[in-house]
Amino acid sequence: MPSAPEPIDLAALPKDFLWGVATSAYQIEGAVDEDGRSPSIWDTFSHTPGKIDGDDHGDVACDHYHRWPEDLGLMKELGAGAYRFSIAWPRVLPGGDGEVNQAGLDFYDRLVDALLAAGITPSATLYHWDLPQVLQDRGGWPNRDTAEHLAHYASVVAGRLGDRVPQWVTLNEPLCSAWIGHLEGRMAPGLASIEAAVPASFHLLLGHGLAAQAIRAAAPGASVGIVNNLSTVEPGGTSEAHVAAARRADGHTNRWWLDPVHGRGFPADMREVYGVDLPERPGDLATIAQPLDFLGLNYYFPAVVVDDPKGPLPYARAVRRPGVPRTGMDWEVDAGGIEALLMRLTEEYGARSIFVTENGSSFPDVVRSDGTVHDPERAGYLQDHLAACARAVRRGAPLHGYYAWSLMDNFEWAYGYDKRFGLVHVDYETQKRTVKTSGRRYAEIIRAHRDLALRAA
Ligand code: FCB
Repeated sequence: MPSAPEPIDLAALPKDFLWGVATSAYQIEGAVDEDGRSPSIWDTFSHTPGKIDGDDHGDVACDHYHRWPEDLGLMKELGAGAYRFSIAWPRVLPGGDGEVNQAGLDFYDRLVDALLAAGITPSATLYHWDLPQVLQDRGGWPNRDTAEHLAHYASVVAGRLGDRVPQWVTLNEPLCSAWIGHLEGRMAPGLASIEAAVPASFHLLLGHGLAAQAIRAAAPGASVGIVNNLSTVEPGGTSEAHVAAARRADGHTNRWWLDPVHGRGFPADMREVYGVDLPERPGDLATIAQPLDFLGLNYYFPAVVVDDPKGPLPYARAVRRPGVPRTGMDWEVDAGGIEALLMRLTEEYGARSIFVTENGSSFPDVVRSDGTVHDPERAGYLQDHLAACARAVRRGAPLHGYYAWSLMDNFEWAYGYDKRFGLVHVDYETQKRTVKTSGRRYAEIIRAHRDLALRAA
């Protein structure tokens, strides 16, 4: 039996704390060939046999492209105050760069207006992994041009939506794009080469810096940040080899992504581990280190690693801790990790503003005969992690909002539709949405905090 969820110290959270829900374009939209959209690397990858569990793909997904008004209704029902969504680059610039497809932009324009009318703050992510396939054909992220194209795309989108979208994320989890997409090959574009992965990582961060400049030029009042998925990393033993392995895993997962954007350059120890030259030109490190208005933290699980000299980079293997509960993804549940990471961003990186841009859990859900979905484990995960966030705020973390992953069940990348992270259940046969117990719990938490803030006003 999981232990009873911890109470959340709601009074610790700022009065204007943003209570959000998050999604991403390819995971929910469907409508892959409508209104001028071109294929992305995820269309190609998911239609390559054997890459996705069950050979699932995002052709229809949650059909959000057509059902978005209903999905907005669900956000209202939950009482969400903010919505983090991503924009599909291949809808806006089907050629990757060059001509703008206004019909693609119109979709987001309507969504943003409707969100604002409902009192929900829009938060737009430019790149949540769906690179136009045409740009992959021209070399993708290992090619420097892709960073420039991201900046052009950013200026187009911010030029259209920047008057109404206050919060902008350049990249979602560049770690996944670079390491899982180019080194492990488990995500699009499915490469497995450190010679491709290191330049990809560099150009992603260069693209982030250039895009941040472009957003600010088009929308001077915009709040701009980057979203990283971080993990706490600990050695699975006391030997020097295990401690060194944990240091490498920390470099690979955390420091490689945080240090450069904070003006500290790419970690020297990891450059040595990778053994690949950075495609750096004069001025690039300064571009990458644009001042940030906020840091986005995606947190799912901690890592305990041991030395693995013969294993894949970075020669550190994750081990299972006996007795630690796990989600349906087989990820360890450890709410203390989110608190530790919030403190690390605050103390070690001097973050002035942080948003938890994703946090959530997958469990196999059962629709009961009365049509309801009871998911106490997901509700418990949510509550425990929010309690940990509130503890971090008491300790001084400048946390200004939390976006639950995810508003609704969706296409979970290489895992297809089998893994469900939603606060809302989606029946993919009928596209029926059902708010789960966890969604109702989130709504109660949001309401309780709002009442408290009103009373204190
Ligand atoms: C994150 C992704 C998000 C979702 C969750 C479960 O890595 O940003 O799209 O797949 O994991």
